[in-house]
Amino acid sequence: MNASVNTGVAIQAPDYVKNPKLIAWVADMAALCKPDRIYWCDGSQEEYDRLCQQLVDAGTFKKLNPAKRPGSYLAWSDPSDVARVEDRTYICSANKDDAGPTNNWMEPAQMRSTLQPLFDGCMKGRTMYVVPFSMGPLGSPIAHVGIELSDSAYVAVNMKIMTRMGKAVYDVIGTDGEFVPCVHTIGAPLQPGEKDTTSWPCNKTKYIVHYPETREIWSYGSGYGGNALLGKKCFALRIASTMGKDQGWLAEHMLILGVQNPEGRKYHVAAAFPSACGKTNFSMLVPPTGFDGWKVTTIGDDIAWIKPQADGSLRAINPEAGYFGVAPGTNYHTNPNCMASLDKDVIFTNVALTDDGDVWWEGMEKDTGKLPDHLIDWQGKDWTPQIAKETGAKAAHPNARFTVAATNNPALDEAWDDPKGVKIDAFIFGGRRSTTVPLVTEARNWNEGVYMAATMGSETTAAAFGAQGVVRRDPFAMLPFMGYNMSDYFGHWLNLGKKLQASGATLPKIYTTNWFRKDEAGKFVWPGYGENMRVLKWMLDRLEGKAQGEQTAFGVAPQYAEINWTGLQFSADQFKTVTNIDTKIWTEELASHQEHFDKLAQRLPQELLDIKADLEKRLVEA
Ligand code: OXD
Ligand code: MN
Repeated sequence: MNASVNTGVAIQAPDYVKNPKLIAWVADMAALCKPDRIYWCDGSQEEYDRLCQQLVDAGTFKKLNPAKRPGSYLAWSDPSDVARVEDRTYICSANKDDAGPTNNWMEPAQMRSTLQPLFDGCMKGRTMYVVPFSMGPLGSPIAHVGIELSDSAYVAVNMKIMTRMGKAVYDVIGTDGEFVPCVHTIGAPLQPGEKDTTSWPCNKTKYIVHYPETREIWSYGSGYGGNALLGKKCFALRIASTMGKDQGWLAEHMLILGVQNPEGRKYHVAAAFPSACGKTNFSMLVPPTGFDGWKVTTIGDDIAWIKPQADGSLRAINPEAGYFGVAPGTNYHTNPNCMASLDKDVIFTNVALTDDGDVWWEGMEKDTGKLPDHLIDWQGKDWTPQIAKETGAKAAHPNARFTVAATNNPALDEAWDDPKGVKIDAFIFGGRRSTTVPLVTEARNWNEGVYMAATMGSETTAAAFGAQGVVRRDPFAMLPFMGYNMSDYFGHWLNLGKKLQASGATLPKIYTTNWFRKDEAGKFVWPGYGENMRVLKWMLDRLEGKAQGEQTAFGVAPQYAEINWTGLQFSADQFKTVTNIDTKIWTEELASHQEHFDKLAQRLPQELLDIKADLEKRLVEA
């Protein structure tokens, strides 16, 4: 099919694109953005290789040494474009209250007129890539599709890894199927004859905009991660959470793992942790000593789409097809499966380059026992241990990333691509708190679990959000990713529980964890990483009715003797340090929950306040 635009750019949709609405939209966007060319991505390997070579020629990619890191590339971004921009992220619902107090909001018409002049001509001198993608296995009843228009070849090749990207998506869309339209520009048009002066063009002005009612995404000015790969946070969480509210399902910031015991019984767990709290590590966990015959497999490391079934079960898919993970801190101790995944066919962004054409990031010295003598850091400067000591310069940016296909993961679950998804047996909500919240507790019922999730928090680091040690409430680890009013979202979870219960189904159990309690000397007490298996096993023992636990003010907790300690020295005293519930501290904690609820008061479900009153009562009685 064909259409032309008043700029003279031919749309020239391939024959397999048969949806007139889609073609008209591409034509409209081309008329607005005025690219020099339009390129329809087919998702083939040949195309991927060609675009990567183009990025090498443009200086955006360096090809890594094929003897060390076959099929892999390194990109360094502009130093101003290194992370998601939460303060520039908007939920533009028609009604401000529908975005709620946790989101930036602008009236949709006002936002459209703000964006119009920015997008007008924004792709001049560049190619507009038309990127068809499916979030979830193609054709799965849980999956949904989108089309991203972008002027970044970096985006196109990352989308090939992170999503099911390619022409088969057009079969799903057909002549009149739905798709989520996503428009992305780096916001750096070129005048005739002008050449890029940088290998990472972008714009100081940035907007990451969602229109939930019309299910549109518009992203301006950034080429990095979640700002630009619009299938991930923008679609799979912000827009999808709104779709889920309207259609009765859940889009969650959760990993999904499979765990099989030596007897062959298998369970599936979905777990929410705030960003940078080890979700990828937990999803690829290697069981430690004392767990012979146990197997943990990955379905997803960041996002879960969960749909209730007719029998009252919840089935989940990972809508993504790859991992866009934080590199620094990843090593053979923290995540051996991830390290193995990164052996080949990886796009690295903002890590350091070694003298032999490989990559390096902080944390890798734990594997080799020493720092490299010399590197080129993520900003292209010389780096030596001496320079690092004198200036504190990091070789890799702390938010440096790898993009890698899920199929590289040696622990990939056999059902990771199953269109039916997997049945969820338990949810985990994990905070990051140096005090107060115990290692693990089980909610006594669904609503109490929702309360725990609604009040979870993580302590800020000085670098990220101001003062160190301040608790940032991050309900369900969704604070930066909610597409609608947070209190309505709590209500959506409570209603879902009610509905499932009414169907007579056994609901998944809900747990809260905190791997991050510190002792008086300020040291982490719980060893974390693979040792988290010990906590996971206790949860499964509870599912199987094998662990009695003990009632605490804050749910059911394990007794020391119920944890398998084989292969780990961890005393009952240490256990107490990570599990005790101090009445005075918890009285303050509940007061802080109240402050959090006060901010969300407008549509806050009464059930949560009832549970809080219940907890207060238990605390006094404890
Ligand atoms: C991510 C995040 O990149 O949560 O996954 O920030
Ligand atoms: Mn995430």
